[in-house]
Amino acid sequence: KQQSSVSHLHPIDRAASPHSYGGKLQVPPIAAAQEILETAILDATTEAIAHEARTGLTATPKTLSPWLFYDEAGSHLFEQITTLPEYYLTRTERSIFATHADQIIHTAAGPESQTLTLIELGAVTATKTALLLRAAVRHPGTVVYQPVDVSESALDAARENILANIPGVTVRCQVADYTREPLPENRLPNTRTLALYIGSSIGNFTPHDARDVLRNLRAQLLPGDTLLLGTDLRPGPHKDEATLLAAYNDASAVTAAFNRNILARLNRDLGANFNLASFRHKALWNPTESRIEMHLESLHAQRVHIPENSTGPALTLDFLPGETIHTENSYKFTPSSVEALLQAAAFKPIQSWQDPKHLFAVTLATAIEQPI
Ligand code: AVJ
Repeated sequence: KQQSSVSHLHPIDRAASPHSYGGKLQVPPIAAAQEILETAILDATTEAIAHEARTGLTATPKTLSPWLFYDEAGSHLFEQITTLPEYYLTRTERSIFATHADQIIHTAAGPESQTLTLIELGAVTATKTALLLRAAVRHPGTVVYQPVDVSESALDAARENILANIPGVTVRCQVADYTREPLPENRLPNTRTLALYIGSSIGNFTPHDARDVLRNLRAQLLPGDTLLLGTDLRPGPHKDEATLLAAYNDASAVTAAFNRNILARLNRDLGANFNLASFRHKALWNPTESRIEMHLESLHAQRVHIPENSTGPALTLDFLPGETIHTENSYKFTPSSVEALLQAAAFKPIQSWQDPKHLFAVTLATAIEQPI
């Protein structure tokens, strides 16, 4: 997602799927050259980080893009988040799949038993995907799993995991930025495609960008193919605001560490001098925009330096007491806002499932003829 998607979209997380951000680009070290130059030469990933920091932290209000969370430490912290008692999203979506996987696959596969290709946006080596793949293997026909990710290492891990644990699945990995690029692999003959965009990854995008991501996906599909979209629900009659807020303000402060890791990463990768203890994790519900916002709030007036690098001169950043860096949006949906989003991208919702507490929704939609 990294550098490529930042050019025109405010990327996810995992917007995309966070795991995908974890992979570091393998760039050969050029230590000798680096030593004789005063300005750091940055590899492609670090250059993208430097660019994000330069644009986001000189803007008003200050922002950083959520893909920056997912270095090795951040990906590990996110894994921890998914197991927190307060973070209901992952386990709730998994429970929906555990209950409805066979029906989802049956509907997506259609009447003829042919090849079913599951294209997953973001290579997630999660048990959630395994539940769907196992259901697909139980269903008549051939099963192909095609994860799409910018990170080759994330794709390799996904391949290994699937091959080792789910016999009967053919794996085809695709390196691409699914938010804006076409899928590189050819469509197999006589196949139906079920695209998986799960984990509330779509929630990191503004409604406008979310629509564009789904339109890009839709352009790769044929009418009759399907999309399974996982969305977290906004508070309402069934879900109170406190439940939602707790998911981003956990008692053990793992989410706070995850949020602050973005500053640690700027220190590590750009040589910045953020004092992590001077920034407070802040997560709030913005009902007008229907999103959780995460910020890092400066506890007092302070000045931070980022040394010069190949993206430009050194930066001096001044913070007022209480000033924040906006690090993430996590949009929350209603059944009708999911439907509107799908329709705007030429998908027609077929069926939607929620957990008994109505915390999370999984929607299956079919690709319809696109208006020219
Ligand atoms: C990976 C984008 C779905 O928005 O809930 C978790 C990321 N941020 N805790 C989310 C996240 C803070 C997560 N997504």
